[in-house]
Amino acid sequence: MADVLNHLSNRLPRRRFDAVIVGAGGSGMRCSLQLAEAGYNVAVLSKVFPTRSHTVAAQGGIGASLGNMSEDNWYWHMFDTVKGSDYLGDQDAIEFMCREAPKVVYELEHFGMPFDRNPDGTIYQRPFGGHTANFGEKPVQRACAAADRTGHALLHTLYQRNVRARTQFFVEWMALDLIRDEEGDVVGVIALEMETGEVMVLEAKVTVFATGGAGRIFAASTNAFINTGDGLGMATRAGIPLEDMEFWQFHPTGVAGAGVLITEGVRGEGGILLNKHGERFMERYAPTLKDLAPRDFVSRSMDQEIKEGRGCGPDEDHVLLKLDHLGADTIMKRLPSIREIAMKFANVDPIKDPIPVVPTIHYQMGGIPTNFHGQVVAPRQGDPNHVVGGLYAIGECACVSVHGANRLGTNSLLDLLVFGRAAGNHIVSSKLKDQANKRLPTDAGDATLARLARLEGSSAGENTQDVANDIRRVMQTHCGVFRTSELLAEGVRKIMELDVRRRSVHVKDKSKVFNTARVEALELDNLIETAKATIVSAEARKESRGAHAHRDYPDRDDVSWMKHSLWYTEGERLDYKPVKTKPLTVETFPPKARTF
Ligand code: FUM
Repeated sequence: MADVLNHLSNRLPRRRFDAVIVGAGGSGMRCSLQLAEAGYNVAVLSKVFPTRSHTVAAQGGIGASLGNMSEDNWYWHMFDTVKGSDYLGDQDAIEFMCREAPKVVYELEHFGMPFDRNPDGTIYQRPFGGHTANFGEKPVQRACAAADRTGHALLHTLYQRNVRARTQFFVEWMALDLIRDEEGDVVGVIALEMETGEVMVLEAKVTVFATGGAGRIFAASTNAFINTGDGLGMATRAGIPLEDMEFWQFHPTGVAGAGVLITEGVRGEGGILLNKHGERFMERYAPTLKDLAPRDFVSRSMDQEIKEGRGCGPDEDHVLLKLDHLGADTIMKRLPSIREIAMKFANVDPIKDPIPVVPTIHYQMGGIPTNFHGQVVAPRQGDPNHVVGGLYAIGECACVSVHGANRLGTNSLLDLLVFGRAAGNHIVSSKLKDQANKRLPTDAGDATLARLARLEGSSAGENTQDVANDIRRVMQTHCGVFRTSELLAEGVRKIMELDVRRRSVHVKDKSKVFNTARVEALELDNLIETAKATIVSAEARKESRGAHAHRDYPDRDDVSWMKHSLWYTEGERLDYKPVKTKPLTVETFPPKARTF
C-alpha cells in the first residue's frame, strides 16, 4: 500500500472507456463511428474542435475506381499505387485498400456527403497524379471530389454521424503518453485538458492512435500547426518503433513563400506548370502523364528547373501554375477555394494570372507500423510480427504500408476511410468490448508527471520556440527534395544536438490558464522524436526510391534496399524488415523502372 501511495499518478483522476481514440480527423472519426454504432463507450480526444482537424484541409478528392467518367477498376488502381510507391508498399494492404475504395465512398454518399455530381447524378471524378487506365496507358478520372473542399465535406459528414451515434468528444485535450502494463499491452493514455491543465488517466480496453502527420518538423509545410507528431512521440516513448520515416512527400504546388496547399486537382482540371521561358517543362520529364505524373517526379522536376536557372520571379525561386485557360466558370465551380487562397496568399487572381508555386512538405509516408486491420506491430524477441495488445494506429500516423516510398494523391483520404473502418470492424469482431479493462500498472503516469515537472521545475533554460524553429530549419535544409550523404550526416549531428537542447526547455508562463506554453513544450518532445527518426533513417538509406532522392546514390537498389526501416528511439538504433510483395489474391507486381 505504501508503495502504491508513493506514486503520484495514483492521485490522478481517472475515467474508464471501452475505447479511447486519439485524434478526431478522418481516420479517428471513421473508426469511432464504427465503434459507437456497435455500442462501444467511445472517447475521442482532440487538440482542436473535431471539424478543425487537419483532414479539413484536404482538397482534391478520394481515390476510388467507381468508373463514373470512363472505364476503371480496382486492379488498375492497385497497379498505380504499387508503382507510385516505388515498389516499397506492402501489396497485401494495397490490394485490400483498392478493393475497399468504392465501398467506403458509397458509404459516405449514403451518410450525406455533398459530392459534386455529374449530369446523370453519379459522383463527379477528376484526374489526379499517377492515376491511369490499363496499367499506365493513359490518365483516368478516379478522384471523387466535393469541389476543392473534399476534406471539409468529409469531416463534417463524419462529425454529424458521430454525434448521432453518441461518440463522446474530449475537445482541446492532448494525449501525453501511452500506458503499457507489465505484459506490454496498452491499457489507456495519460491526457491533459488544455484549458485547465488537469492531467487525467483515461483507461481503455482498446486505444486507437489517429493523430495525423507531423509536417511541422519542417519550416515550410502544407500542414496545420497541430501536426506535431504526437502519436509518433508517444509511440517511441513507449518502446514502439517507427517505420519508413525517411519518406516524406513534397507536394509540388504549395504557394511560394506561404506553403499553403494548391490542390493537384488544379492540374487534374487542366492546369499546367511553366518555367520562366513559359515552357511546359513536364512534357520533357514525363511525356505520357506530363503535369499529372506522381508527386515525387513532379517535385524533383520543378526543383531541377529552379536549380538550373529556369525558375520564375526576381529570385528565380519558383515556377508558375497556369489555370486561366480553364475559364472563370470552371474555376468558380470546381476550384473556388483555390481562387480564394491564391488571392489571399499570393495576391493573384488565377482567373487572370498564374500562381507562384514550389514543392512543399505535405505528407509522411512512414509512421507507426501496423497490419491492415490497424493493429500495431512491434517486433520482439522471436516474434517479428508481434501485435501490441490493445493498440491500433490508423491514418497518417500509421504505416500500413500502402504508400511505400511515395503516396498517390487522393490515397490519403482513402487510407483514412478504409483503415479507420477496418480497425473499427476488427475491434468489434475481436469482441474487445466484452473483456474487462485490464489493471493499470502502479506507476502509470509517473513518467508523464516527471516530464511535466521537468518542464516547470527550473527557472532558466531553453525557449521552446527557439528549439522548435531550429529543428525546422535543420530538417528543411538537410532533408529536402534532393539529399546528399554530406547534408544528411550533418543533419543527424545537428538534430542530435537539438535533442540535448530540448531536454533543458522550460515553461516560463506557469499560469494554468489555457496552457499554450506548456502544450507547445510537450509538442516539442514529439517533434524531436519525429525529426530524429526521419533524419537517421534517411542518412542510412543508400539509394534513391520514391520521395527519398539521394544525389550520391541516384538509382533504386532493389537488391540491398527493398526493405522497410524501423527506428527505435530507445538505444537509437535502426532495424529493417521485408516488404510484403505478395498480394491477397492476385499476382505480385514486380519492381520495374518508373517512367510516366
Ligand atoms: O492535391 C491535393 O488535393 C492533395 C491531395 C492529397 O494529398 O491526397
